[in-house]
Amino acid sequence: AGRFVVALDGPAAAGKGTIARALAARFGFAHLDTGLLYRAVGRKALAAGGGAIRPEDAIRAARALRAEDLQAPGLRDPQVGQAASQAAALPEVRAALLDFQRAFAARPGGAVLDGRDIGTVICPDADVKLFVTASDEVRARRRCAELRAGGAEATFEQVLEDLRRRDARDAAREAAPMKPAPDAVLLDTTKLSIDAAVAQAAALIERKC
Ligand code: C5P
Repeated sequence: AGRFVVALDGPAAAGKGTIARALAARFGFAHLDTGLLYRAVGRKALAAGGGAIRPEDAIRAARALRAEDLQAPGLRDPQVGQAASQAAALPEVRAALLDFQRAFAARPGGAVLDGRDIGTVICPDADVKLFVTASDEVRARRRCAELRAGGAEATFEQVLEDLRRRDARDAAREAAPMKPAPDAVLLDTTKLSIDAAVAQAAALIERKC
């Protein structure tokens, strides 16, 4: 047995979070949504900069980040997502968040981490690596439904543009760009139900456990 690490990467709203939670429940792993770290940093930097992201604010926020910041309200707001993506392009911000993520991955009971660079940078030795994708339209439709369920107003066009902007920035940046690890399994959820996607991921884990 020992430690078991599952790395789930991919673009925004591809289904990583839902799959990660289901796998964590099924196998008894701890789950870390690493996007929340960057969102918490983005939120603090937005507040410090009066609505604009200044690198020095983002770096300071990342270095001072505490566990309770991950419970702050508003972390799921689209503007906080964009701020997170801007902050996430700064190498100093990424460096400040590294130890926390690696320590989480080392939990004795096993861990699943979802994000953009888990299989490439944070946990290059992960036991199972998945890169979860879906078409832009399907991702926008899902995120739209999520936002509306949470009581927010969201149009499909706005959400689609927001996702595309964030993905483009996340994939193009120099520091830990979003990309599949060479040994990652691609899981395209465009035409898969959540249950089917979870079943495929679970089968990979069972083979390695
Ligand atoms: O996953 P989520 O959409 O909540 O992440 C918000 C932003 O945080 C992403 O757009 C990305 O810029 C950044 N992020 C990252 N590396 C991770 C997780 C998130 O750069 N491992």
